[in-house]
Amino acid sequence: MNPETAGQVFHSARDEFALWSARLWRPLGELLTAVSRPAPGERVFDACCGAGASALPAAHAVGPGGVVDAVDAAEGLVADAARQAEAAGLTQARFHTGDVLTWDDGAEPHDGYDGYDVVQCGYGVFFFPDMDAGARALLRRLRPGGRFAVSSWLAGGMERIVPVGHAAAVPERPELAQGQRPSANERLNSEEKMRSWLLSLGLVDVEVHPVDYRFPLHPDDAWTFYLGAALRGFVQGLPPEALERVRARFEAGLREAGLGTLDASSLLGTGRVPG
Ligand SMILES: C[S@@+](CC[C@H](N)C(=O)[O-])C[C@H]1O[C@@H](n2cnc3c(N)ncnc32)[C@H](O)[C@@H]1O
Repeated sequence: MNPETAGQVFHSARDEFALWSARLWRPLGELLTAVSRPAPGERVFDACCGAGASALPAAHAVGPGGVVDAVDAAEGLVADAARQAEAAGLTQARFHTGDVLTWDDGAEPHDGYDGYDVVQCGYGVFFFPDMDAGARALLRRLRPGGRFAVSSWLAGGMERIVPVGHAAAVPERPELAQGQRPSANERLNSEEKMRSWLLSLGLVDVEVHPVDYRFPLHPDDAWTFYLGAALRGFVQGLPPEALERVRARFEAGLREAGLGTLDASSLLGTGRVPG
């Protein structure tokens, strides 16, 4: 997905995305921060920050002496994150709307600053038009020896819902039948694949941690999940009656596939650029 499309889809998903923050994005964002381990006073770049799932915990961790620059293309999610930071008095968290691959804070290089201590990206790298080039662009923001942390979906979980959501939308959007581009998440959906990928980026001290995370998925919630996540891209702009048909097919598809559980099991990968 190019950044403009990602920004539009997730911006319009704002309300439904928010419904999923407490049960999905925030807990998993906390876990990403548990492995990136920002320390008091450190500088963190949170790429694809969404509504602040990992940026807010990072801001707590770095404290008032540190900085978190958090960037996302979806203006509405960024606004929600900024509001939460303000309410919590986290002035060290700075939220920005933009493309994480090109965002520039305009600051002049100055003595004593040679990059971020931590770059973290929760469920974002697989959206980049070129995942490897995108990840390398993120790594260039790190100081020598700085830490990178990334999360992806484990095979057999979230990936199973996407084809059901796609099939439900195709009758309304025949052009989608041309074939779905495989998600780059498939390149990061096992411990071995994630480890090899991080090593291929030149990182050292690579670690990959699997996380079991699943819970019952009520059909009403399944639909808000559809509208609050990247699946929304399939139905963007459809009129309400068409959306209702997609919803009915999606719910039937989940029943047929035996998907009564949202399996958001994940992989958390970390590594360090040599320094
Ligand atoms: C699945 S959400 C995850 C958000 C957040 N990290 C979390 O864990 O809750 C993916 C996010 O990536 C953002 N995104 C994708 N590509 C982007 C890019 N090139 N620049 C900025 N944001 C991007 C989308 O706007 C979306 O908010």
